[in-house]
Amino acid sequence: MQKLIEVASEGNQPNIKSAPVTIIIAYDLKYYQHIHLLAPHMDVSKVENQSEKERDKFARELSWLQAGYILIAARMLGIDCGPMNGFNKTLTDEVFYSGTSWRSNILINLGYGDHKTLRPRAPRIDFEDACQIL
Ligand SMILES: Cc1cc2nc3c(=O)[nH]c(=O)nc-3n(C[C@H](O)[C@H](O)[C@H](O)COP(=O)(O)O)c2cc1C
Repeated sequence: MQKLIEVASEGNQPNIKSAPVTIIIAYDLKYYQHIHLLAPHMDVSKVENQSEKERDKFARELSWLQAGYILIAARMLGIDCGPMNGFNKTLTDEVFYSGTSWRSNILINLGYGDHKTLRPRAPRIDFEDACQIL
């Protein structure tokens, strides 16, 4: 936990300290090794032939989707979630994933907050302003 606090931005450190669990959502640049299992309908050569940069972009984008699924699942179980983008990813990778093909993308605090002191949920932009029907 201390290692994670040190890689987080100053504003996020107290929230990590107070959360019982913080998840690092990370992705594996070697995800293509699992494509046979995860997407048997896909042509594996397409991902096998990607450059490292393309692979990183592809995996990072998909890991955002996984983060969203985790937020939904945790909230369905009544767990409060605090997603955080404010942390040093390069340092996190050095500390936690050195010598591996894993890369960090986002942190999520999980726990049961005191709803008397938690800040209220932020307002949402109206559908008409946030979406375009094309
Ligand atoms: C992608 C993403 C990154 C965020 N990064 C931070 C962060 O670094 N620090 C922080 O205090 N809040 C951050 N937030 C916002 C809080 O987690 C915010 O309180 C939360 O999204 C509120 O969600 P809710 O209104 O659905 O409860 C981030 C939110 C998202 C979606």
